[in-house]
Amino acid sequence: MTALPATSRAWHLVARPHGWPAPTDFALRESPVEAPAEGRILVRNLHFSVDPYMRGRMNDVKSYVPPFELDRPMDGGAVGVVVASSAEGFAEGDHVLHGLGWREYADVPARHATKVDPEVAPLSTYLGVLGMPGLTAYAGLFETASFKEGDAVFVSGAAGAVGSQVGQLAKLKGASRVIGSAGSDEKVKWLVEELGFDAAFNYRNGPVKDQLREAAPDGIDVYFDNVGGEHLEAAISSLNVHGRATICGMIAQYNDTEPVPGPRNMALIIGKRLRLQGVLVGDHYGLQPRFVEEVGGWLRSGELKYRETSVEGIESGVDAFLGLLRGDNTGKMIVSLTR
Ligand SMILES: NC(=O)c1ccc[n+]([C@@H]2O[C@H](COP(=O)([O-])OP(=O)(O)OC[C@H]3O[C@@H](n4cnc5c(N)ncnc54)[C@H](OP(=O)(O)O)[C@@H]3O)[C@@H](O)[C@H]2O)c1
Repeated sequence: MTALPATSRAWHLVARPHGWPAPTDFALRESPVEAPAEGRILVRNLHFSVDPYMRGRMNDVKSYVPPFELDRPMDGGAVGVVVASSAEGFAEGDHVLHGLGWREYADVPARHATKVDPEVAPLSTYLGVLGMPGLTAYAGLFETASFKEGDAVFVSGAAGAVGSQVGQLAKLKGASRVIGSAGSDEKVKWLVEELGFDAAFNYRNGPVKDQLREAAPDGIDVYFDNVGGEHLEAAISSLNVHGRATICGMIAQYNDTEPVPGPRNMALIIGKRLRLQGVLVGDHYGLQPRFVEEVGGWLRSGELKYRETSVEGIESGVDAFLGLLRGDNTGKMIVSLTR
């Protein structure tokens, strides 16, 4: 049996952020590591995920996921290796996906762990292209937006984990045109030159409405919203009759301290008979087998590309999260603990 470490470090939320989170809202704390009790496994985390939805969990409000408790370790997606097991079906050396990230070692109830195979795909991809963000893209495009061949698709946050996959999935399934927006010229270049988007623009370079009009002169049929605000208003203007929008995220307003005004052009929804519908990935886990088969196939064939921005070391966890909110990432933002 592997000798267990005496202690493990975990990031705690110690104050609820008002507006942009500050590094002082978090603390890296050490606690003793114990052998797992019956039905549990001890996992050495190798990668954990930082995700935009975690910003919402830092507020003390009722939502579809409970808020983080103060002075407790935060949680979220993680992959790691089992270092001790008191659970049937799990052995030392197994790799697992589970929900106790933001820490070095996790004491996980075995029923909340899923075995993953590093031979099939790199472990970190189970947090990204083959994981929760990937399924969000898949479900939000094919189910929520009822995407069909020939649709022109616009996706915001296009160089992020969800957005980069949405655009490529739409192309693979026969979109007539795929347009993306992102926050830097470098990201825009990546979308067009490497991921095969038909057009992309930097939303910081001018009004979204004008740049979208130019990129999609014949309008769009589907809008996949990761951003909200000005992007949503522009998309409503560009959507064609019977257009559909998947409302997946509104990252532009996650750090706002006052409610923001809605799009000013909502009346267009009537004449154009638009459908705007929210998506929550948790409603779509039934799609998982189809998602893994289809997306796994495109990954193996190289038709679907992905990128990860990996930050090394538990100490970097909060910086990685803050960087994600600022747009430091291209593709999935991951914290790796592999050294
Ligand atoms: N509904 C669900 O079930 C579900 C599940 C997963 C994710 N989501 C949502 O999907 C969205 C994308 O998530 P993700 O995990 O793929 O994150 P991500 O796109 O990989 O990372 C967040 C990105 O947001 C962009 N951003 C930050 N502030 C912005 C602003 N003011 N305006 C425009 N873009 C801004 C940044 O890129 P730029 O450099 O381009 O600004 C940043 O890289 C988020 O809104 C998230 O909450 C929803």
